[in-house]
Amino acid sequence: MCGIVGYIGNKKATPILINGLLRLEYRGYDSAGISTIENDGLSIMKDKGRVKNLNEIPGIDDLEGTIGIAHTRWATHGKPSKENSHPHQDNSKSFSVVHNGIIENYNELRKFLTDNDYTFYSQTDTEVIPNLIHYYYSKDNNDDDKRILRAVKCAVNDLKGSFAIEVISKYDKDHMIVVRKDSPLVIGANEDEHYISSDIPAILSFTRDFYLLNDYEFVVLSRDSAEFYDKELNKINKDKKTIEWNASAAEKDGYEDYMLKEIHEQPTAIRETIGSRLSENTKIEFDELNFTKEYLSSLNKIFIVACGTAMHAGLAGKNAIEKICKIPTEVDIASEFRYRDPIIDNKTLCIFISQSGETADTIAALKLCKANGAKTLAVTNVIGSSITREADYSIYTHAGPEIAVASTKAYTSQVVLLNILALYFAEILGTCDKVNDYKKDILELPKKIEETLDSCKNINAFAKEIYQEHDIFYLGRGIDETVAKEGSLKLKEISYIHSESYAAGELKHGPIALIENGITVISIMTDSKLVEKTVSNIQEVITRGAKTLVVTNQNVDQKMFDKTIVIPETNPFVSPILSVIPLQLLSYYIAKEKGLDVDKPRNLAKSVTVE
Ligand code: F6R
Repeated sequence: MCGIVGYIGNKKATPILINGLLRLEYRGYDSAGISTIENDGLSIMKDKGRVKNLNEIPGIDDLEGTIGIAHTRWATHGKPSKENSHPHQDNSKSFSVVHNGIIENYNELRKFLTDNDYTFYSQTDTEVIPNLIHYYYSKDNNDDDKRILRAVKCAVNDLKGSFAIEVISKYDKDHMIVVRKDSPLVIGANEDEHYISSDIPAILSFTRDFYLLNDYEFVVLSRDSAEFYDKELNKINKDKKTIEWNASAAEKDGYEDYMLKEIHEQPTAIRETIGSRLSENTKIEFDELNFTKEYLSSLNKIFIVACGTAMHAGLAGKNAIEKICKIPTEVDIASEFRYRDPIIDNKTLCIFISQSGETADTIAALKLCKANGAKTLAVTNVIGSSITREADYSIYTHAGPEIAVASTKAYTSQVVLLNILALYFAEILGTCDKVNDYKKDILELPKKIEETLDSCKNINAFAKEIYQEHDIFYLGRGIDETVAKEGSLKLKEISYIHSESYAAGELKHGPIALIENGITVISIMTDSKLVEKTVSNIQEVITRGAKTLVVTNQNVDQKMFDKTIVIPETNPFVSPILSVIPLQLLSYYIAKEKGLDVDKPRNLAKSVTVE
């Protein structure tokens, strides 16, 4: 899991590359490096550590090259070290390569190359690539202007796995070659320069016009042109797409961290995600979908498959679909689903949720469902991401770029989009007579999120009380239990405090043994039908000395609890979108209190493109 950047133009490449890397650090941040084309050949500067360390490498300011490639790494093969950092070069130092992805057959390729007298200096899978390119380049006797491209193509043909690759060479000081398969890569274009990146926000301040690549498309970039080739090196045409995101959307906008900014962006994210799809008294529109009543009535099951936070959004989606569409719905973790022989056929609709659209397990699960005859629908935040190229249908949350590793606005946007999707199905099927009430609930959300953010003003005081704890528990029933799961995950990932979530009714079947004097228990209660039961469960932990925080919109005796956060009243159908916000903020303030880097928690990366 890494980030790659490239530049080819008339400006000095190094500052542009470092700027791009800094914005891609969320993808990995254990080593960084750049290679540029200088008058006397290829430069290469790299080391372990964060991107800012690159700036301290002696001589980096002297690089004059206007073509360069760069990489920020999150180690998979080989520990973080200078040798394992990218770019990698072939033995003759004629080609520099950066790579994001995993080469699954690198052992086999390494053996082949070693047998052909190549030496390896790193433990990475990537180092086979420049050497393979060199191998094929030196075997090609035809010294025309496509020789490097042919060598790259032959090398790529040998690779199994996933890759986004940038290649520069001392043999051609005016071009760069890029190619991708199952790993993200976009090309930003201005009149006489091109920017390459693993994602759009990293280069959005330079251009809004992008080429989006499909698997095995090769691109030969010069300053003022981009030539596209298919797998067989036939020339193909490609149009640019203009991206509407505002460049400042990818900045911190005065917030201390991206996570805090993204939490506060939720009213806008939800407003944008609702967009023009839903309004009171008119039918819901999804231009991207063409589901008929006949098709939806034929379904015997919906699978929702995703990982982590996206899977938690799926749990809220299940609740909505089953309640208002009456279609049995199962939610699965992608990495489990793939290997458990799920029963899938053409009467199954499979929905995949992924903020990044690049999560390897989710994409693999999608391919499995497709191969078994099911229709596949991707719910993602990233236009042109890999998942959208695989799915039969794609619908987008419009949360804007999410930079912080811990997902916040993407989760609430996913929940709202799944709710709208459920209503869309229900309108087609005629299974719900309260569609208009539900629409109203959704349309009121942006305002209610603002009120919820206001109601959390003092939550940092509670964070100060509990930030040194070692275990924290989350409880809920029904829809609130899905939010308890998300609250617990958020706390773990950014504060490193161990936490668990439980269905409140399960407590006395085991977990209550863990409750002892002073332990913190956080409960969510937004469903009037379940509130009394949950209050009884909280009473049980209070009796055993627990400190309690309650997030609720119900009429409860607040005196019972140590802290209560009252959120606006709403239908439980959409309540996760409100009740999760205090939990996001609590995790944020606990992590801040502990002095941690909330945007880049240890061991985690934003986009999990390995299985
Ligand atoms: C948690 C988090 C992860 C992601 C998961 C799936 O805050 O961000 O659990 O939700 O890795 O990622 P996407 O949605 O990109 O498929």
